Amino acid sequence: MSSHGAPTRAVTVRDFAAARGRAQRLVLVSTYDTLMARLADDGGVDAVLVGDSLGNVVAGYESTLPVTLDQMIYHTGCVKRGLTRAMLIVDMPFLTYQISVEDAMRNCGRVIQETCAGAVKLEGRGEPIEQAVRAVTALGIPVMGHLGFTPQAVLQLGGARVQARDPVAAQRMIDDARRLEDAGAFSIVLELVPAEVAERVTAAVTIPTIGIGAGAGCDGQVLVLHDLLGLNDGFAPKFLKRYAELGEMARSAIRAYAADVRGGQYPAAEHGF
Ligand code: KIV
Repeated sequence: MSSHGAPTRAVTVRDFAAARGRAQRLVLVSTYDTLMARLADDGGVDAVLVGDSLGNVVAGYESTLPVTLDQMIYHTGCVKRGLTRAMLIVDMPFLTYQISVEDAMRNCGRVIQETCAGAVKLEGRGEPIEQAVRAVTALGIPVMGHLGFTPQAVLQLGGARVQARDPVAAQRMIDDARRLEDAGAFSIVLELVPAEVAERVTAAVTIPTIGIGAGAGCDGQVLVLHDLLGLNDGFAPKFLKRYAELGEMARSAIRAYAADVRGGQYPAAEHGF
C-alpha cells in the first residue's frame, strides 16, 4: 500500500470489479500529457482517462467533435509515458466507432496496439453502441460506457445539460446501463445525471459506475485534472470542486517574471555562466 491507501501495483479492470459497492471509491482524472499524468500517478489516482475533452482543454475547440483518432493516439502515448501505476483509458473520438462495428473493432484495436492503453471508452446509448461494445469486448479490449450528458452529442442535446430529469428518461438510462453491462462493458461513466437517478443506475448494474456531476452514489468519480487544479478558472460548473487555484498562481508568477525581465532583475548574476 502507498501512503495514500492505494495499491502500489498497476491498476487493472480487476480492481474496477473489486471496487464495485466498496466504501472506498475509485479515483479517476482526465488528462492529456506526460507531466500532468505523472502528477496524477504520484497523487495516487486509480486511472487516467485521456478524454476527448482535450478538444476543449488543449486544442481550444468549442466541442469534442473535431478531435481525431491520430490526436487521441498521440496524447495517449504522452500520458502513457507519465504513468507507472494508474490504469490508462482512452476516449474513442467522434465517428471512430458509431458508423459500423468493423470500424469500432479496427479503431479500438489500433488504439490499444499503438498506445498500450488498458481500455477504451465509448459514449452513447442504444443498439449501435451495444453492438460495438460487444464486438470490441470480444476482441479482448475492456470497454467503458458513458451515459447521461455525452459531449459528442452536444449539438443534439442543445448544450451541456443535466440528463434523465424525468421518470421516463431515468428508466431509459437504467435500461441502457443494463444493456451496456450485458454487452460486456466493465464500467460506465455517468455525466450530468441527478444524484438519485445515478444511484438507481448504480443499483441496477453489477459493474462500477463513475460519476461526474452525478452525485455521491457512484462507485468512483472523474474530473478533468486542469479543472480540479483551477487551471481552467473560467470553467465553474456546479459539480466542480477546485482543490487548488493554479490558474491564478500561474498568472501571478508570469506577471512577476515579466516585471523582473523588464526591470532588469532577471537574470541575476547567479543565473549566468
Ligand atoms: O472527455 C472526458 O474527459 C470525459 C470525462 C470527463 C468523463 O469524457
